Amino acid sequence: MEVNHAIATRRSLGRVTQDPVPREMVEEILASAVHAPNHKITEPWRFHVFAGKGRGELARARAELARREAEAEGEEEDMAAGRISRERKKAFRAPLVIAVISAAGREEVESLENYAACCAAVQNMQLTAHSLGLGSIWRTGPVAYHEYMREFFGLEEGDRVVAYLYVGYPDMDERPRCRKPALESTIWHEE
Ligand SMILES: Cc1cc2nc3c(=O)[nH]c(=O)nc-3n(C[C@H](O)[C@H](O)[C@H](O)COP(=O)(O)O)c2cc1C
Repeated sequence: MEVNHAIATRRSLGRVTQDPVPREMVEEILASAVHAPNHKITEPWRFHVFAGKGRGELARARAELARREAEAEGEEEDMAAGRISRERKKAFRAPLVIAVISAAGREEVESLENYAACCAAVQNMQLTAHSLGLGSIWRTGPVAYHEYMREFFGLEEGDRVVAYLYVGYPDMDERPRCRKPALESTIWHEE
């Protein structure tokens, strides 16, 4: 797929089928990530691939975090059970979930730039998935960044969770994309 076309036609697709993503495709998606620009060639990306039954590991972690939060908030048992179940199910929204982690740099600026490089890597992954006929969505939110999830991934200070990329075969229509034209966000310095 031509790159401009891939960029313009990619959409975040939150609904995908449970059909497994072939291993070769997963490897192609990962391979595209490491072509992202990265300052000082730190190659800061780390990937955790959760596929098929392996998603259970992620589901258990999310459920345990939900349980702890419900307990800390003194939530009633029924409410807590619903919350835990909803969180557990989230890991199974796609047949493949790739967590992208950014490794700490040697100092603050390098850590920041490592994170930036990983964001570029995620875009590569989404474009590659799209070119393979797959849908993907980059998900995060407070739970993704929570200390409990950091421990789950064995992160050290300065390491960061960048994305949970949910990938699978599309099971929804593509939404139109509405964006302000780039020129509305542009200041030209020409003279
Ligand atoms: C850092 C980051 C975090 C995101 N987290 C979520 C998320 O938690 N849930 C979600 O539905 N979409 C999330 N998205 C995807 C955006 O919702 C999506 O890119 C946006 O709606 C634009 O749609 P498009 O990707 O189809 O252009 C995230 C995107 C980025 C860059």
